[in-house]
Amino acid sequence: MPKLNKRQLIAAAMRARQNAVAPYSKFQVGAALLTRSGRIIGGANVESASYGLTCCAERVALFKALSEGEREFTAIAVVARAPNGAMPCGACRQLLAEYAPGATVFTADSAHPERVRKYKVAALIPGAFLKVRTKRTRHRRRIRALPPARGL
Ligand code: THU
Repeated sequence: MPKLNKRQLIAAAMRARQNAVAPYSKFQVGAALLTRSGRIIGGANVESASYGLTCCAERVALFKALSEGEREFTAIAVVARAPNGAMPCGACRQLLAEYAPGATVFTADSAHPERVRKYKVAALIPGAFLKVRTKRTRHRRRIRALPPARGL
């Protein structure tokens, strides 16, 4: 990816971070997803009083993008005020493996956004659980493959 894109993506994650809703942890995280067509979609973490319902910045960005029809992602940037930034949690890695398997992950400390670390989604979650082909899904596939019924 061109250097400019990487910087732009980190900058977008920095902007998204400003909208973090983190009254409990006070740990503000910003993410920005890059689609294959060049669109950038930002997200920030949103926390809940019940803690467990909190959604990470990465998943917010991913769900925003998917629900707007985006399906192909080439990179995601994540920024937080921590040495080297925040690494995506296990739940986010799982979703990235499902919806952005080939993507590059850039992380940076929001205090030093010019120092960027780079990973691949596949390397962050080796052997990820992916869609299973059950007997049922094979059966459905066969039915879809049938020629259209005539005279009905
Ligand atoms: N968080 C993220 O948004 N992304 C990460 O990669 C790590 C953690 C959020 C969740 C929670 O709101 C806060 O950071 C503290 O864990």
